[in-house]
Amino acid sequence: MRETSKEVPLQNFDGKVAFVTGGASGVGLGQAKVLAEEYGAKVVIADILPNRIDEAAAYFRSPDRKDLPVRILQLDITDRSAFANAADEVESAFGPVQLLFNTAGVSARVPAEKATYDDWDWHLQVNLFGAINGVQTFLPRMIELGEGGHIINTGSIQSFFALPTTALYSTSKFAIRGLTEALRVDLAKYDIGVSGIIPGAVHTNSLDTALARPEKFKNTTFSGHDGETALRKILASGMDPVDLARITMQGVLRNDLWIFPYPQFIEQVEERHRLVMNELMKWQDSVETVDTIR
Ligand code: NAI
Repeated sequence: MRETSKEVPLQNFDGKVAFVTGGASGVGLGQAKVLAEEYGAKVVIADILPNRIDEAAAYFRSPDRKDLPVRILQLDITDRSAFANAADEVESAFGPVQLLFNTAGVSARVPAEKATYDDWDWHLQVNLFGAINGVQTFLPRMIELGEGGHIINTGSIQSFFALPTTALYSTSKFAIRGLTEALRVDLAKYDIGVSGIIPGAVHTNSLDTALARPEKFKNTTFSGHDGETALRKILASGMDPVDLARITMQGVLRNDLWIFPYPQFIEQVEERHRLVMNELMKWQDSVETVDTIR
């Protein structure tokens, strides 16, 4: 079954307000650029890192872009009251938010056996609770507005299978998959679409962001990426964030469940699904056994 494109809550993004977490770098910055420059949306970039914010601000201050409706604010998406204040500020300046891009994320490969609670907390607080905080902040406002909307969560290929040393990241990204599917079921009745982006490699600053860990999560054994040169090569050959954003906007306008433009993973995902089906099929002639156990 291809779960896609049932209802299309938003026909276009023209004049709509989009809130992009992690919008000062990489995938989020690509989304902000495409939304503002190609779709006529009003864009709010929310990011934690001052240097990234300065770079994004410089981009949007250039003479040919300075009139675009883009606001950039510093926000730690793990801070719930700051999130609510940001939403109030944005609404009074720009109007109600109808597009929520839960894009911010972090990834430091710390093997599970070496992980501290701070390692777990940082990944789960940013990658999962950051998205939950976005939903908790904006969903009631979208429902009250009553004009539909769209929530776009950023997962990863690691929302579908785990790689070695990625317990922290995969846990958070598998959860994004559950969050996305569950919200999609529940929010259709409000004309709020929900889509998940599933990137493979994207050419971004994520390896550097993993080294800019906030003080409150500072207890870690992580001091640098294993195989950093190889990882940098993989990212450098990854998709351009603006290209991914263009594909993303088309997927959102079709109301796709998954925006997953990485056909090189077809075999791996198929294999993963086969494995799950094999486990389930083992039981197909065992209804009696299951009943007996119960
Ligand atoms: P990036 O590091 O270039 O951008 C992430 C942005 O999130 C940064 O500007 C960072 O300051 C911001 N951020 C981090 N913690 C934050 C917080 N607490 N509050 C607000 N903003 C915060 O990385 P990239 O690659 O653009 O990552 C974006 C999303 O894409 C993430 O969810 C990541 O997991 C996902 N992704 C990236 C892939 C890649 O190959 N780059 C592959 C698969 C998924």
